[in-house]
Amino acid sequence: MPLVPMKQILDEAEKGGYGVGAFNVNNMEQIQAIMRAAKDTNSPVIIQASRGALRYTNLIYLRKLMEAAAEDNPKIKIALHLDHGNDLEVVKQAIDLGFTSVMIDGSLDADGKTPRSFEGNVEITRGAVEIAHPHGVTLEGELGTLGGIEEHVQASRVILTEPSEAVEFVKQTGVDALAVAIGTSHGAYKFKVTPTLAIDRVEKIHELAPDVRLVMHGSSSVPQELVAEVNKYGGKMPNAMGVPVSAIQEGIRMGIRKINIDTDTRIAATATIRRIFVEEPGVFDPREYLGPVREAIYGVVRARMEAFGSAGHNDDYAPITLDDTKRLYLKRR
Ligand code: G3H
Ligand code: 13P
Ligand code: ZN
Repeated sequence: MPLVPMKQILDEAEKGGYGVGAFNVNNMEQIQAIMRAAKDTNSPVIIQASRGALRYTNLIYLRKLMEAAAEDNPKIKIALHLDHGNDLEVVKQAIDLGFTSVMIDGSLDADGKTPRSFEGNVEITRGAVEIAHPHGVTLEGELGTLGGIEEHVQASRVILTEPSEAVEFVKQTGVDALAVAIGTSHGAYKFKVTPTLAIDRVEKIHELAPDVRLVMHGSSSVPQELVAEVNKYGGKMPNAMGVPVSAIQEGIRMGIRKINIDTDTRIAATATIRRIFVEEPGVFDPREYLGPVREAIYGVVRARMEAFGSAGHNDDYAPITLDDTKRLYLKRR
């Protein structure tokens, strides 16, 4: 099956009242682990690549790996999404590569730190919509800033998404999906104490803008058993803390449909490699540690697909193509 537009996966999740994990990838083991979890749980899936991932894979390797993922899993609905695109050039590049969804993160200025004005965000996001929609490609925007690191820089101020602004933003840009800032941040050090997220904002935005699909970035839960394993085997991740899965489930009940996860699979990989290197110092064949890394990522991803409720929903609907969404967008003009 060819990759499907992310819009379809999220619209179906809205109908079914569940969330879909969007997992970041950079290499083959991650892609294989995520695809096996999707297959075993019969879940639709979103695979996403950051600008860093595009650089790391030199574009072509990522594209070929995703072709392999689709060919190897013909029944699974897969969307391939650009995570945190920061200008129109990278949006075009991803579309040329065959991505079925792109994000333009217009929440911060080009320096990646200063919050962009509402008008500036509308302008760049609208430009991205005008590039993506004629190809049938889904567009995710972002309003408000996350507390953490976006491409290794930190927003200088955290701004939670205002529901009334979100409605206006959606109206003025035509985005399909909107990343909302509700107090999460990227990375492994999200909170110092158990977090309170602004879930009420999700409920309000969902009520006021029911046609846009809401996205939660910075959604890794930073499993404490994995952090303990990293630390036990020589790592240093003191006070790492993430978003409890129960808080994400509450977000899903209020209207979150896409849940971004990167850090959790990174920690799973690191914990596994550290353990093997310490416990089996004679190992030097990369398959002997990258195979277990794949298993560890599989475990995390499978658990999230079950917790977010996407498990079991892959066969609820027939796939559509980018041509179908292209026609839909044309009609809406
Ligand atoms: O948004 C952040 C993601 O975790 C991607 O991270 O830019 O290091 O690939 P990266
Ligand atoms: P985490 O760092 O919490 O995994 O968030 C990833 C993310 O939001 C990617 O866009
Ligand atoms: Zn993000």
